Amino acid sequence: MSFGIDDLPVRDELRGKSPYGAPQLDVPVRLNTNENPYPLPEPLVERIAERVRHAARHLNRYPDRDAVELRTRLAEYLTKTGGYEVALENVWAANGSNEVIQQLLQTFGGPGRTAMGFEPSYSMHALIARGTGTGWIPGPREEDFTIDVAAAEKAIAENRPDVVFVTTPNNPTGNAVPAGTVLALYEAAQAAKPSMVVVDEAYIEFSHGNSLLPLIEGRPNLVLSRTMSKAFGAAGLRLGYLAAHPAVVDAVQLVRLPYHLSAITQATALAALEHTDTLLKYVEQLKSERDRLVAELRALGYDVTDSDANFVQFGRFADAHEAWRGILDRGVLVRDNGVPGWLRVSTGTPQENDAFLDAVRELKKEYSA
Ligand SMILES: Cc1ncc(COP(=O)(O)O)c(C=O)c1O
Repeated sequence: MSFGIDDLPVRDELRGKSPYGAPQLDVPVRLNTNENPYPLPEPLVERIAERVRHAARHLNRYPDRDAVELRTRLAEYLTKTGGYEVALENVWAANGSNEVIQQLLQTFGGPGRTAMGFEPSYSMHALIARGTGTGWIPGPREEDFTIDVAAAEKAIAENRPDVVFVTTPNNPTGNAVPAGTVLALYEAAQAAKPSMVVVDEAYIEFSHGNSLLPLIEGRPNLVLSRTMSKAFGAAGLRLGYLAAHPAVVDAVQLVRLPYHLSAITQATALAALEHTDTLLKYVEQLKSERDRLVAELRALGYDVTDSDANFVQFGRFADAHEAWRGILDRGVLVRDNGVPGWLRVSTGTPQENDAFLDAVRELKKEYSA
């Protein structure tokens, strides 16, 4: 037997575990990781090259540790689109919102503390909790994937978690959480502990509704987490950010590694933010394609969860993994998130969506034949 992870003196909670990651398979149509299907427009690529060239001349020095220019531009973007004015001191940035979440759990979770999320939801919340030594408590969700306020309040009161995650729009189900629900959960979390409530808005630009950014007013324990991986079409950039009371921004700096955000990352993100208007036009296109996917899947007889994201959860399958395989055999990679009976498809280009719809149409025929 070969020497492996479990032969090393790794932490007990990591024993027997596998790393997170969707399969990166080489298939013609990949609709499994909620990326934006459109490459960045050429003028933006040129602007990135220009900004990176400039940054390269200073790579002998550490980057701006506080990413002041970038956070200022992110605050402007949030103010313009979020319906609430924020400034540099309300915003923090890191390498993807995964790192933002990690820093939040390092700050407010950790050994002897717990975090709760309403499952099924973004599985990295639980995995980052594990990685930071934070206990994980799965919270309840209804059959239709909404959060029942009374059941969630009860779970918070009973478990008194230190951190509560609310993902809206939720991944993998796609549905948004009403502001009233988030407010009720915030109140419950304050009464129980008080604890931090992290609203993960990774997909908010695709929503029919508005950002919950204005809710941070007067609520210092509420944090909004965002990313440039989805709407900005820049998953490869690795840039996530948060908006919160300035005290939260000060607190996460207690755990962030010095110079965590490279000068290249900062330069690239700044270039992308200069092209916000163009990038958000792709969002409009993707939203109408998402709505088309929902309508056509329903017309084919599939159950579809209402989607406010750039992906759609559809079912129901007696064996979701077998259906996943059937779609893959037709050249389209979707995601099996382990939600019994359901699969998730990311919105692609119109051609990719057509290929997906052809595949599920055939699958339906095969099943009902
Ligand atoms: C709900 C949610 N939050 C956060 C992320 C992480 O995004 P990133 O680390 O690329 O910013 C994802 C990615 O799929 C997500 O679905």
